[in-house]
Amino acid sequence: MINKQSSKVPANQRTSEPKLQSSSVLANQRTSEPDQIVIKFDHVSKQFSKLSHKTFKEFLPALIRGEKTSESFTALNDISFEIKKGETVGIIGPNGSGKSTILKLIAGVMWPTSGKVYVKGKISPLIELGAGFHPELTGKENIYLNGAILGLKRKEIDQSYKSIVDFAELWEFIDQPVKHYSSGMYMRLAFAVAIHVHPEILIVDEILAVGDSAFQEKCFAKMEEFKKSKDITIIFVSHSLGQVEKFCTRAIYLNHHEIQCDTTPTAAVKKYSNGQ
Ligand SMILES: Nc1ncnc2c1ncn2[C@@H]1O[C@H](COP(=O)(O)OP(=O)(O)OP(=O)(O)O)[C@@H](O)[C@H]1O
Ligand SMILES: [Mg+2]
Repeated sequence: MINKQSSKVPANQRTSEPKLQSSSVLANQRTSEPDQIVIKFDHVSKQFSKLSHKTFKEFLPALIRGEKTSESFTALNDISFEIKKGETVGIIGPNGSGKSTILKLIAGVMWPTSGKVYVKGKISPLIELGAGFHPELTGKENIYLNGAILGLKRKEIDQSYKSIVDFAELWEFIDQPVKHYSSGMYMRLAFAVAIHVHPEILIVDEILAVGDSAFQEKCFAKMEEFKKSKDITIIFVSHSLGQVEKFCTRAIYLNHHEIQCDTTPTAAVKKYSNGQ
């Protein structure tokens, strides 16, 4: 359980009030407690608004008449779970079930409509391909930009620069604007930066799927290293159920915007595959 003291600290608590977040404070709250909870969702719901008219022909007159043109849509319904430091948790479920929404709430790019999200630790989020990159800047410039966004000082990026480009195997293209990169090249650069910023929580949403098999293997080898260190918590979202079973130590199966089970990867995959 998160102790009372930590839950009173506004810096590690995300509610619907954005002012409560401060990731720089989070990054400094390192501790070596073995069973430390680093992520906690406490009855979290997330609603979005969606257009209530199917066609533009219906929408426009309604807008002119001043009628309501949108309605509330529940993407996550009363979600609660806790993740301990060093766990490797897979999140599986069909398209639109709310997996990425959970990751965005953890990363702090979205806020819950109700409930609370607690996160303790420095996050490296690999959520959307190209997020955090500027298309007009070169690969090199984006490494500096992304490294800075993720909390590295210029000197630290200087020190890691060669290792980042080596890992991404992008020396040939590193001075090209990333708008000319292929999806796989984007992913290589993003993954290479993410693993060099000393994350405490690594979030990987799907993006490995665009990498070729050799590079995917390299990413898994790196994540296995993180997993063995037991210091880094990994949240891994994938439609590749085999990868989730092989790599994760636990899996959460989401469907209909609710948790269907939170169990071993094998049991979760079985339940999902049986359509339960
Ligand atoms: N910013 C947003 N505005 C409105 N609706 C949204 C927004 N983000 C997500 N949604 C909706 O919330 C639901 C959950 O989306 P989410 O992206 O979390 O699904 P997912 O499980 O990651 O799906 P996929 O497997 O396709 O990646 C979807 O119905 C989606 O349309
Ligand atoms: Mg998604």
